[in-house]
Amino acid sequence: MWTKALSGHSGCQVLLCESDARLFVRKISGSSDYNARLQVQAEKQARFESRFVSVPKVLDSGITNDGCYYFDMEYIRGVTLAEYMRRIEIGKIRGFVSRLIGHIVDVGNKSGYIKADVFSDKINALRQSFAALEADASVDMQLINRALAALEAHSWQSFTQSSCHGDLTLENIIVHDSELYFIDFLDSFYDCWILDISTLLQDAYALWAYRNWDIVDMNTQIRLAVFRDILMDELTAIDAGVWVNEVFYALLLKLLRIYPYTKDEKTIRFLNDKTALVLLILEQGGL
Ligand SMILES: Nc1ncnc2c1ncn2[C@@H]1O[C@H](COP(=O)(O)OP(=O)(O)OP(=O)(O)O)[C@@H](O)[C@H]1O
Ligand SMILES: [Mg+2]
Repeated sequence: MWTKALSGHSGCQVLLCESDARLFVRKISGSSDYNARLQVQAEKQARFESRFVSVPKVLDSGITNDGCYYFDMEYIRGVTLAEYMRRIEIGKIRGFVSRLIGHIVDVGNKSGYIKADVFSDKINALRQSFAALEADASVDMQLINRALAALEAHSWQSFTQSSCHGDLTLENIIVHDSELYFIDFLDSFYDCWILDISTLLQDAYALWAYRNWDIVDMNTQIRLAVFRDILMDELTAIDAGVWVNEVFYALLLKLLRIYPYTKDEKTIRFLNDKTALVLLILEQGGL
């Protein structure tokens, strides 16, 4: 079997493989400790159904000689949506956003009960993690305390549980033949469709998927601004806009949750800027 490594930051190995003149992707757990999570990922992908977007078909799964779980899936001959945004025809952006939101709203319509205490537990745990970061001069603690207070005051009663992707960044969506394919599903602390929309906003407002690019050129920035405006239009159109604020609260929580895992000062400063922006939007009562 011929293989070539594809990029990946999660510690998993992602290999493009060829066997019997057939290409496929094999994703292998970085260690046996990660097996259960990767298996959940494969199961989420295999169960996935949507009227609007697709997934690479899961072909096989197993355990390597080292005891690591792997699964094989169809290879999609495309590029990530993050990359595609550099050169997408501006007129095509609306169609992509409509499909993403159409899918997430479908999922939201099937959502069930609410476990709002999951959020209060998470925010309490976050407060404790930040206590350990107080000595780090690059963390803007005044800003963090304002953000934590805003999160604590929020009710989270609209966050109905549903199936979700778990890490819906533009890096985990592949574009091929104008079709969108979701990859890299993740088990998150709470499964909820609103969190998936907030991950899209994390790229549209906070440019998270682009944080390691040396330059986000003007063409890409313009396309991302159009993506963001259309995303907000679509979001405002759902149930007369009741979700807009909720999505920004979810984004604020998401940004704060990244700090404890961040080691480099550049990313911390990036997070400070974006947290301040989202907090401002919320404090002004929306956009
Ligand atoms: N089925 C597929 N078809 C085509 N390309 C794929 C496929 N699966 C993964 N890739 C490519 O490999 C990259 C890494 O895959 P994936 O996102 O699953 O890995 P990861 O280790 O979880 O990485 P990350 O932390 O970067 O999200 C993707 O961004 C994509 O470019
Ligand atoms: Mg990924």
